[in-house]
Amino acid sequence: MVGHDWDLLDEVWPPFYGPGGELYAHTIPFAGMSSFLEMGCGTGVMSVLAAKAGCTSVVGLDLNPAAVRNTELNAARHGVADRVTARVSDMYSAVEPGERFDGIYWNPPFLDAPKEAMDSSIWHETMFDPEFSKLRHFLKKGVELLTPDGRIYLWFGEALGNPTLVRDLADEAGLDLRILETLATSAIPDPLVELFVDEEIEEDSAWHLHMLELCPR
Ligand SMILES: C[S@@+](CC[C@H](N)C(=O)[O-])C[C@H]1O[C@@H](n2cnc3c(N)ncnc32)[C@H](O)[C@@H]1O
Repeated sequence: MVGHDWDLLDEVWPPFYGPGGELYAHTIPFAGMSSFLEMGCGTGVMSVLAAKAGCTSVVGLDLNPAAVRNTELNAARHGVADRVTARVSDMYSAVEPGERFDGIYWNPPFLDAPKEAMDSSIWHETMFDPEFSKLRHFLKKGVELLTPDGRIYLWFGEALGNPTLVRDLADEAGLDLRILETLATSAIPDPLVELFVDEEIEEDSAWHLHMLELCPR
């Protein structure tokens, strides 16, 4: 990914090469940041890229202990272990008092699902967000953890047809939203399209994948 080799442990998303983690890496302005938080860090690709770009304080958080180990492995592999700290965390629970970030990023679970349909597996936690309560909390609490010029970066898609969702949640959280980059269906890499079940995507539906920048009002 992004021209480098990475460790990928079992039980860490994605379970095979998928272009999701690198698709929009070039859109985040790491160079202007000194502190960066990657929510749901998985393999820790963005955490490592932030540290390599000069962020001196990078925190990767994930519910999944294997993802935390994986992020540590990749930070060591790329020589930035001194700048990257990975912690097991349910959303922001492991953020320490007083920590603030110039950039907060997540490639979150994309799909709403009935709570009762979820099991406790890490794959369900990775894919599903009942009533988008995690995403809501990510934005609301994220605002409080930004430095004065800080921004939130969100990789998101409207795969299952809720085009106003992020804008509505951003409004609730007092954030202005800007699309940094967007891909229409025709341009989405095959391995990503294959992640979505055929019947769930109408042939002619105009779904997109975006990298969004959210800025406190
Ligand atoms: C779509 S994956 C993204 C993984 C990786 N950052 C990437 O881009 O390939 C979502 C990640 O969010 C994590 N996650 C899900 N629920 C979480 C929660 N409540 N708190 C922290 N991380 C969570 C998952 O374990 C998973 O690693």
